[in-house]
Amino acid sequence: MLVFATSDKGGTGRSVTSCNVAYRSALQGNDVCYLDFDFGSPTSGSIFETRSVETGTQRPGMHSLLQGRATEPTRIDVWAEADWQAPRLRPPHAGSLVLFPGDRGGGEFLMGPEVIRRCLELFLRLNEEFDICFVDLSAGRSHAIDAVLEVTTRKELRAVTHRWMVYHRWTQQHIVAAADLVYGERGLLKTGIEHGHDEASLRNSIRFVRTAVQDLNSSDLMPIRDTQVVWLQACDKGLQLLAAKRGLGSSMVLGSTPMDPVLQWQEQLITDDDVSATQIANTATRDAFAELARRLTEDTAWEGL
Ligand SMILES: Nc1ncnc2c1ncn2[C@@H]1O[C@H](COP(=O)(O)OP(=O)(O)OP(=O)(O)O)[C@@H](O)[C@H]1O
Ligand SMILES: [Mg+2]
Repeated sequence: MLVFATSDKGGTGRSVTSCNVAYRSALQGNDVCYLDFDFGSPTSGSIFETRSVETGTQRPGMHSLLQGRATEPTRIDVWAEADWQAPRLRPPHAGSLVLFPGDRGGGEFLMGPEVIRRCLELFLRLNEEFDICFVDLSAGRSHAIDAVLEVTTRKELRAVTHRWMVYHRWTQQHIVAAADLVYGERGLLKTGIEHGHDEASLRNSIRFVRTAVQDLNSSDLMPIRDTQVVWLQACDKGLQLLAAKRGLGSSMVLGSTPMDPVLQWQEQLITDDDVSATQIANTATRDAFAELARRLTEDTAWEGL
C-alpha cells in the first residue's frame, strides 16, 4: 500500500505524525518504509533520530534516484541506526522500518516523464518489499503531488492500494486551506481527474487528519479560566460546523492527534517508554498514532460515503 502524506500549510505536524504512524505501524507487525519526498526540506531523518541523515543523506537519496544520478537509493534501517537507547530496540514481533532520505542540500525539481518513470519503478519495487510505503510530500501544491497523481494512474499500479492523509491543524485558516487543497480549483481531486483518476475512487482514497487538537475534556489541560473554557468550547463548535461545511466532517476524518507537550518542544517518535517509564509524553498521543496506523489499513475507514 502507498500512503501519501500531504497538507496545504507547512508546520501542520505532517512529518512528525506520519513518522509516528509509520513507527506504530511497524510495531503492529507491518513492514514499513518512509520516503522523504519533501524535496525542499528533507529532514525526516531527525524525527526518526537517525542523526547521520537529519538533513538528508550525503550519499544518493531520493533526489539522486529520481533525477537519474543513482539506481540504488540510500536506505536507513531505523531500528538499527537510530540513536536510541537499548530498551527502544526493535521488539521481536515488529516489522521492518526503513527510511529513504532525500539528498542533503537537494532542492525542488521539475518532474518530467523520466522522473515519473523512475518514481513508478520505485513505488513498484518498494510495494513488493513493504506492506506500507509512506510518502511524505511537501506542503502545498508541489511538483511531487502532481507526479504522484500521475504515477498512480499508471496501469502497473492499478492493483496497488493508495491512500492520502491530508493533515491540518484545528484552526479556521487550516480547515479552509486543507479543504482548498482537496476540493479547490487546483486541488487534489480536480488535478487527479485531469490525470485520469476516477473521481469516486480518488475521493474514497482521501482522508483528513487533525493534528495537535486541544482536548477540552482532558484533566491534563493546563489551568485556564472559565471564560477561556467557554470561549474554546464555542470555538470548537464553530470549527466543527466549518469543517462539515467544507467537506472535512467526521466521515472524512481518519483521526486526530492531541496536543502533546513533548511534540510541542521536540520533533520525535513517541515510544512506549516515553509514556510508561519516563512519563514525559501522554498516553493519548501514543494511542492516537496507533489508532491512525490501524485505521490506515482498515477498509471500512475508506469506504464510499
Ligand atoms: N500532536 C502534537 N502536539 C504538539 N505539537 C505537535 C504535534 N504534532 C506535531 N507537533 C509539532 O508541530 C511542529 C510541526 O510539525 P512537523 O514538522 O511534523 O510539520 P510539517 O507539516 O511536516 O511541517 P513542514 O511543512 O515544515 O514539513 C513540530 O514542532 C512538531 O513537533
Ligand atoms: Mg515536514
